[in-house]
Amino acid sequence: MTRATSHPVLIAPSLLAADFTRLAEEVEAIEAAGADWLHLDIMDGHFVPNISFGPAIVKALRPLTRMPFDVHLMISPADPYLAAFAEAGADLISLHPEAGPHLHRSFQTIRGLGKKAGVVLNPGTPVEVVAPVLDMLDLILVMSVNPGFGGQSFIESQLGKIAALRGMIDRSGRDIRLQVDGGVTARTAPMCIEAGADVLVAGTAVFGAPDRAAAVAAIRGPVGAARNIEDARA
Ligand code: DX5
Ligand code: ZN
Repeated sequence: MTRATSHPVLIAPSLLAADFTRLAEEVEAIEAAGADWLHLDIMDGHFVPNISFGPAIVKALRPLTRMPFDVHLMISPADPYLAAFAEAGADLISLHPEAGPHLHRSFQTIRGLGKKAGVVLNPGTPVEVVAPVLDMLDLILVMSVNPGFGGQSFIESQLGKIAALRGMIDRSGRDIRLQVDGGVTARTAPMCIEAGADVLVAGTAVFGAPDRAAAVAAIRGPVGAARNIEDARA
């Protein structure tokens, strides 16, 4: 068992897989379906080979839901846009170490804006980048696909990275969430939870499902649901 403690399991649907002609209804539907956070994938066509949306969309959606906004920046440079996403309503801002030369400064900026900070590890990025900035972090995100597109297949070799990071977080004693993003489905989610993840991002598996509540429940799974009941009682 890699987990030293029990962590509630949160589900963060990625808006990237929503129907963009009906964004307001989509956000309200997944909140009603039991989603915990809204994951917002920001892509610039430079850091990743796709373009999604920017702070104006984040701002427009903010009044529609109480779900925390989990903003995943796949942009380079990220620093000039941190304030815009904070002002638009981000609760947590995550960025990739490859996005710029001053990772520590980026996290200082995010924290200075009063927001939570996350670091994102691509499948080819080693866990070692995390240690020097661990004290700045509220979240570590392990990419289980190469970023840029929804609907890709889960890369199982990332499970070892999740387990290694779970060990690092538990040894640190810090309150840091461990998130996984890419190809998360009812089939792959239990492996992520077992490895130590406690926030599961899912785009296609939630927005592509006819019954979003059933999809959220299936991804959380019986182990996640039991753990959340345990946590609520503690
Ligand atoms: C990929 C994004 C993911 C993606 C997940 O660059 O960071 O959040 O939208 O989509 P699925 O769950 O369909 O793999
Ligand atoms: Zn993402």
